[in-house]
Amino acid sequence: MVLNRKYNIPFHKPSFSDEEIREVTDSIKTGWLSTGPKTAQFEAEFAEFLGVPFAVAVNSGSAALHLALKGVGIKEGDEVITTPFTFVATAEAILQCGAKPVFVDCDPSTFNIQADQIERKMTRKTKAILPVHFGGQSCNMDQIMKLAAVHHLKVIEDAAHAFQTRYHGRAIGTIGDITCFSFYATKTLAVGEGGMLVTNSSDYAQKARLLSLHGMTKNAWRREVEDGNLSYDIVMLGHKYNLGDLHAALGIHQLRKANGFLNARRNIARAYFDGFKCCELLELMPVDSFDDHSWHLFVIKLKLEELAIPRDAFRKKMEERGIRTSIHFMPLHLFSFFKEQFEFKANDFPNALSCYERIVSLPIYPDMTEEELAWVIESTLAILEENRKPMTKSVNVVSAQAQSVPVRGE
Ligand SMILES: Cc1ncc(COP(=O)(O)O)c(C=O)c1O
Repeated sequence: MVLNRKYNIPFHKPSFSDEEIREVTDSIKTGWLSTGPKTAQFEAEFAEFLGVPFAVAVNSGSAALHLALKGVGIKEGDEVITTPFTFVATAEAILQCGAKPVFVDCDPSTFNIQADQIERKMTRKTKAILPVHFGGQSCNMDQIMKLAAVHHLKVIEDAAHAFQTRYHGRAIGTIGDITCFSFYATKTLAVGEGGMLVTNSSDYAQKARLLSLHGMTKNAWRREVEDGNLSYDIVMLGHKYNLGDLHAALGIHQLRKANGFLNARRNIARAYFDGFKCCELLELMPVDSFDDHSWHLFVIKLKLEELAIPRDAFRKKMEERGIRTSIHFMPLHLFSFFKEQFEFKANDFPNALSCYERIVSLPIYPDMTEEELAWVIESTLAILEENRKPMTKSVNVVSAQAQSVPVRGE
């Protein structure tokens, strides 16, 4: 057993520096901690960055999804088509509206929803499609938008992984009716807990803003500082989903550094592709365009049929070498709640199930050093080779060559 004390490579490390510290300190010194000028500034700069007219900051990506679905009118008895290969928040938001999530299996190589299977799951109750841009690579938005137009459905995009993702050059955030981003601690734009809902519709934006703070016509900053008029009305039943200035202070500076961060992650992704291109014991995800991917996640798929160890044993061996990995995702239909609620069987979504058993997410974050990156690549290759099934031990030159970098459109 290799026990490496030299490396301690986390799965993710946020990149903060003096700018963030100064901005947070400024909020503390002024004493305004809740939603105020920094949140407004973050919203405005985020909208400008993406090229959308409206951005509403909230306290999580989950909250953004809930408000987006409520905003387009999803209610009890409706159905929303989405993928089981996602984080629970996607389906939870649908259920919180009283609607039913209807799963379409994922594509076995990109893990995104199989857009050509969506129509088969539509009923008269279907009101919206909720695609998730897995890992930072866009779903097939042409197909999804076309289906939505034909069947008069709304499109709410779960872009928790897709800040800076582009689809055929168009920024994610500018395509569907409403797009929801997450700024959770491990995301590419991290503020700890936070999210943003963006849209081209002033009606949706206005409704989301009201719903995000108790259905209140004015937040405290506007009442107490901007207007000086303390009266307000409650015009609908809302939620307490607003983002505070302390988190927005981090967001403002993370946003300004976002292009540099993306470049760093893109370089790491290239190094992984390069390092693994001759390895016949794993599969790399096909990439439509290196430059359109946000590179939030770097997922490898182990060829278990050729390995003597299961996926979790591989992860343990990585851990022994000082490398933390993660799993994205255990498909929702395998969790107790969903199994009980919808009587799912593991094989109802065979692609999601098969992907889940094989996937490992490797570290990818801007502050990863070249030495750390090299160690992750070296360790991955060494562990796989050491655990190759005996009968497959001869080097297969043909298949090693066939596994060239699966990048399309470069
Ligand atoms: C695909 C997906 N959707 C939604 C969310 C929810 O975001 P948040 O944690 O900000 O609520 C996450 C968070 O991990 C996610 O991965």
